[in-house]
Amino acid sequence: MPAFDIDLIRTQFPAITRTNGQTSPVYLDNPGGTQVPDMVINAITDCLIYKNANLGGPFRTSEAATEVFEDAHRAMVDFVNASSTREIIIGQNMTTLTFHVSRSIGRLFSPGDEIIVTRMDHDANVSPWLLMARDYDLTVKFLSFDKETYEFDLDALDDLLTERTKLVCFGHASNLTGTINDVRAAVAKAKSVGALVFVDSVQYAPHGIIDVQDLGCDFLACSPYKFFGPHMGVLWGREEILLQLDPYKVRPAANTLPDCFETGTLNHEGMAGITATIDYFAWLGETVADSHHHQRHTKGNPRRQKICAAMECLTDYEIPLTRQLIDGLTSIKGIKIHGITNPNAMEKRVPTISFTAAGHAPRDLATTLGASGIQVWNGHNYAIEPVNHLGLMEAGGVVRIGLAHYNTVEEIDQTLAVIDQIIQS
Ligand SMILES: Cc1ncc(COP(=O)(O)O)c(C=O)c1O
Repeated sequence: MPAFDIDLIRTQFPAITRTNGQTSPVYLDNPGGTQVPDMVINAITDCLIYKNANLGGPFRTSEAATEVFEDAHRAMVDFVNASSTREIIIGQNMTTLTFHVSRSIGRLFSPGDEIIVTRMDHDANVSPWLLMARDYDLTVKFLSFDKETYEFDLDALDDLLTERTKLVCFGHASNLTGTINDVRAAVAKAKSVGALVFVDSVQYAPHGIIDVQDLGCDFLACSPYKFFGPHMGVLWGREEILLQLDPYKVRPAANTLPDCFETGTLNHEGMAGITATIDYFAWLGETVADSHHHQRHTKGNPRRQKICAAMECLTDYEIPLTRQLIDGLTSIKGIKIHGITNPNAMEKRVPTISFTAAGHAPRDLATTLGASGIQVWNGHNYAIEPVNHLGLMEAGGVVRIGLAHYNTVEEIDQTLAVIDQIIQS
């Protein structure tokens, strides 16, 4: 198997290679947003130069802008395996889109109906539903996770589901523990009582194949800026469900999907960036993935197949890096990782690793790392349910290191050495 060409990957990212004479930071802040390849930056620039008009005008630049809009929807169809562009709603970010659609979803329900949210989710997949429940007089139930295994016991979901359950909101991968959840199993259970399922794939999207047909959910949200694209959000909704919703929109806006959910003038240059981001994955599939990564992906159009091969290739590269980081952290005295650490279970987590170090406030540790050019997050990272559930809020949450496929073995070694030094001193 040829080695993953990490040098080729890194040269795609100007934030890594163009450093104005300084050393490039070690970007381990990826769960909060990733760096962007040249391909994406160029597409955004190109859009602002040559395609900068509003949509639907009878002139050349508007036609070019309309093409940008359509291309971005087509690209996201391939990324999540949607049935059509009518199912792709592009907007500002995942949080805004979730609040937006929650108003329409809530109108389907009656007082006393029930919804389920989890103790593992980012607040963007909790608060919109709590507020919807308040507005429509719904009952909210929480699905908890095991504090030892950092996984859900899905039998507990059976105990929460009733014939009044209308919606289950579930995370694909946690931005705190890193756990990848069994979405298919949760969907199957939710469907047994006829509930809708809303999946937050924001943390999963940079690391794995998303297939909404296979997952069987009704909604799935992700954010291109977490997977090497521009600061935007994308919501996929199953067409037959979207058609049942009453969109909150201005009267002159089209009543057709997806336009009726895409309020106002969108970020066209960001949309050009989204298409280029998906094409970046396809480029990875073409250039970096190996034949065995391609073997299992013969369904869908050529771009979808390349995206899937790319994701498999990235997983193959990221798993040993994750293991290296976890091994190194667990060997430093006083460090506790709040997530799956079994080296043989790395496929159950994304490379988002949260930890605490006895006697060191997370903010102080992150600040010292930052001063050494190593960029990591600290605090609750909006994962307030899991941080509270794990009893970590008062002590300042966690230090969170998140890997992406442009990180290297040397960067992990460097990071571990600095953490060790801080702890020793
Ligand atoms: C798991 C998860 N869900 C949702 C969000 C919110 O995404 P956005 O910033 O696009 O609203 C984040 C952001 O960090 C996240 O990690």
